[in-house]
Amino acid sequence: MEFELLKRPRRLRLSQSIRDMVRETSLDVKDLIYPYFVVPGQGIKQEIKSMPGVFHFSIDKLIEDAKEAYGLGIPAIMLFGIPSHKDQLASQAYADDGIVQRAVRAIKDVMQSLIVITDVCLCEYTSHGHCGVIENCYVDNDKTLELLAKTALSHVKAGADMVAPSDMMDGRVGYIRQLLDREGYVNIPIMAYSAKYASSFYGPFREAAQSTPQFGDRKTYQMDPANSDEALREIQLDISEGADIVMVKPALPYLDVVRRAKDNFNVPIATYNVSGEYAMIKAAAQSGWLQEKAIVMESMVSMKRAGSDMIITYFAKDVAKWLTIR
Ligand code: PBG
Repeated sequence: MEFELLKRPRRLRLSQSIRDMVRETSLDVKDLIYPYFVVPGQGIKQEIKSMPGVFHFSIDKLIEDAKEAYGLGIPAIMLFGIPSHKDQLASQAYADDGIVQRAVRAIKDVMQSLIVITDVCLCEYTSHGHCGVIENCYVDNDKTLELLAKTALSHVKAGADMVAPSDMMDGRVGYIRQLLDREGYVNIPIMAYSAKYASSFYGPFREAAQSTPQFGDRKTYQMDPANSDEALREIQLDISEGADIVMVKPALPYLDVVRRAKDNFNVPIATYNVSGEYAMIKAAAQSGWLQEKAIVMESMVSMKRAGSDMIITYFAKDVAKWLTIR
């Protein structure tokens, strides 16, 4: 048969050098944000069962580990606190000597240029495990705003470089922005968990943070996984309230949302590669069913390709190492 093949896409895949030349997406250590769980006490580095390789750290041990992360080139960390005591109004979330506040001060004392982002939410601090104040079995939006803003302010006063509200209450970005501005912190950016879904992929995190709701679920405030127009509305609102960076969470099952966000808005986009996504890869790798490094690197580049400017991931240290020994 006579056949003339003119278009040959395989020409540009002939060698690693050519493939590198036409590569559209790059992954850099500067794209990464590393999350930490900090607990009260001394000398503690305890592995979280459903997240092998992720630990509860006391402040002293956290500093050692954060130094290593920074040494690997990771520019930013995100802090979650597990308090010694939880109550109805999450008082330890906004206490000046709360666990996150103390951790931020201690880190900033020794590492000024590491960017410390604090997660701002109440669920790790409430006895009922919900992200806000409970009134008649419902998370009361407007009463929660004040406590969230107080929490954000106390983190910033302790030295946090950026705050990341993850509660999904309406109006919280604007409320926090106004309080920070009024107190003189006009230059502290807000990274908003804007499109945060009511996802089952947070399971291991809730074990780590002991923050599983004691009744009901988070579906009256976090988003329905079936929706993406709504994600754009949430992002739009957060930007109009003053968000500097917006986030989509979880990451891999929601890359279509990341792409829509990137195409529709002109602000930096973060994606949170959450605990369940981490645990799945770890479990499969431990069983010898997947090659961990290859799967993780492919996942990271996919998040970038979808439009993420930065990635919050428990794999950050591994990725940083793998990027240098490629
Ligand atoms: C706090 C918060 C959660 C996560 C980040 N911030 C848990 C939740 O909403 O239940 C999840 C992170 C992860 O799964 O890695 N609201």
